[in-house]
Amino acid sequence: MDVVTTKAALRDALQSIELTSIVGLVPTMGNLHTGHLRLIEAARSQSAVVVATIFVNPLQFGPKEDFESYPRVLEQDSKLLREHRTDLLFAPSMEEMYPHGRSPHTNVSLGHLTGFLCGSSRPGHFDGVATVVSKLFNLVQPQRAYFGEKDWQQLTLIRAMVHDLDFPIQIVGVPTARSEDGLALSSRNGYLNAEERAKAHLLYESLNRIRQSVLNGDLDYAKLESDAFERLASEGFAPDYVCVREGASLQAATADSTDRRVFGAAHLGSARLIDNIPIDE
Ligand code: PAF
Repeated sequence: MDVVTTKAALRDALQSIELTSIVGLVPTMGNLHTGHLRLIEAARSQSAVVVATIFVNPLQFGPKEDFESYPRVLEQDSKLLREHRTDLLFAPSMEEMYPHGRSPHTNVSLGHLTGFLCGSSRPGHFDGVATVVSKLFNLVQPQRAYFGEKDWQQLTLIRAMVHDLDFPIQIVGVPTARSEDGLALSSRNGYLNAEERAKAHLLYESLNRIRQSVLNGDLDYAKLESDAFERLASEGFAPDYVCVREGASLQAATADSTDRRVFGAAHLGSARLIDNIPIDE
């Protein structure tokens, strides 16, 4: 695996790739876990060349969020990527990606799709994601790019962006990797202490409980959502939202929706956990 840290070296490395080769891109912020490695495996199975990126993108962190403390473990990540047969790793510095600092002249804004779910509690987050992902798409010019379904809103917004801005890139969603107790794997799970970790799976359990009730015919989404919210709060979570929405449009689900998903986000200690599961397969 080649490791490059500048845009010029990335371009040089990409130039040696045959024009007809399928390039698969896996953008990450590092601190890799099995979920990321599933993205690499999916890319590996569908692409001639797998490019991973590691960049902790300041634009997608709010002022009180964990940008400074976000784990940066490049050596450990490089080893995992090498073991999973990644061809090229791009790990740029902040200055390389944003020579003008945290306020670049150009931002990609995702508009109304960011005003709810994680977007309402993390203002600016998705625009920061869209800006860095657009830059990575332009730099790597992959045919396919891989994102985890755990961040379903991010995945949906990136699909919308690719459509609106005519990026000739297929966006591939990869199912959420989970611990044995059901907790969705996340780089931020490391912020949980032992007691918090022992109950973190209750978020997934709450989503599953709603799913089961809906499948049993209970369509009072508002009541199901508020019951789950209260149950999580009583267990020591500070829930952000629990809701049933349409997977593709992210709009509130109705009795006629056919691609419903349950979404949840909650703080537990210093970790913010998010998860979602399909109701309609
Ligand atoms: O999902 C992530 O890890 C990040 O949001 C991404 C897509 C790498 C952009 O920084």
